[in-house]
Amino acid sequence: MEITEAHRLWDAAPGWLNTASYGLPPRVAWIALQEALDDWRHGRTSWEGWDTSTARSRAAFAELLGVPTADVAVGSTTSGLLAPVAAALPDIARVVLPDIEFTSNVFPWMVHADRGVEVVAVPPGQLVDAVDRRTTVVTFSAVQSATGEVADFDALVEAARAVGAMVVVDASQAAGWLPLAWSRADVVVASAYKWLMAPRGAAFGYLSPAVRERFRPLQAGWYAGTDPHASYYGPPLRLAEDARKFDISPAWFCFVGAAPALELLVELGVERVNAHNVALANRFRAGLGLPPGDSAIVSTDVPDAESKLAAAGIRAAVRGGRVRVSFHVYSTEADVDAALDALA
Ligand SMILES: Cc1ncc(COP(=O)(O)O)c(C=O)c1O
Repeated sequence: MEITEAHRLWDAAPGWLNTASYGLPPRVAWIALQEALDDWRHGRTSWEGWDTSTARSRAAFAELLGVPTADVAVGSTTSGLLAPVAAALPDIARVVLPDIEFTSNVFPWMVHADRGVEVVAVPPGQLVDAVDRRTTVVTFSAVQSATGEVADFDALVEAARAVGAMVVVDASQAAGWLPLAWSRADVVVASAYKWLMAPRGAAFGYLSPAVRERFRPLQAGWYAGTDPHASYYGPPLRLAEDARKFDISPAWFCFVGAAPALELLVELGVERVNAHNVALANRFRAGLGLPPGDSAIVSTDVPDAESKLAAAGIRAAVRGGRVRVSFHVYSTEADVDAALDALA
């Protein structure tokens, strides 16, 4: 299927330019969710059927990132998945991150200040240079929430490797549209309610085998068990051998909505979604007289942009005083042109 045809698989009302805030479900995901909710309402089924969506989601996320399924844990939020990673830092540690980083990848590190974990925040363009022999972790969003800036992933991985630092990436604004050699990082976390178009409450973490042995599965419950269905009661501790030991019990309905959306992204292909999204972003940039970029998110400070877009019924976000628009697989050239007309 051509990507330009794919928007027919959604029911997006024209003018949704805010996937960086939350993504819209494909119809197939919406229907799956309604059916599960209806079954819940009437008590027609047991929950195990809903939980098959968790395994499907995990496998699709792994495929999108090009990492083994066994290295993916499921969670609920970005910050929650990062908590055990940060807790595993030694008492004296230095974490280098961008000063505009979304706080779900800032606070999990900063709460360890009392035991000597220092967070050094620098402008994104200075991140590579800020990595030195004292650095324990380099962490950054692959795509910045506020600006849409795409990180120099390869340069950051190389800088980190040169000093033996761990690389932790927040892919919440990138997974689903940005093709990257994700497995070069040690840890990649993503909330799924934006570009992965799932209901709020599903998140994923790639935890490479080498580093996760150092992490304590601080949130382990029955679902992190070797066999969750044989882990309901009592000792001994019997956790999964792979990244599943970092799972939290899934919020069923979020994953029911997540699985079809992620599988559709796999089918469409991240490269093609990337080409579509960036082309629309660049059509928007050209309309404003800006040079082309490499992001699906455009942040700009057209005067009165917020009220002009709102008056035209276009839904965008304001971040750091600038208007932020974002384009995904269901966005169309008509959406771009409507936004440009509104801003003209
Ligand atoms: C880069 C980034 N990370 C994470 C999140 C959300 O994190 P959490 O799942 O912890 O709420 C957002 C939400 O805007 C984000 O932009």
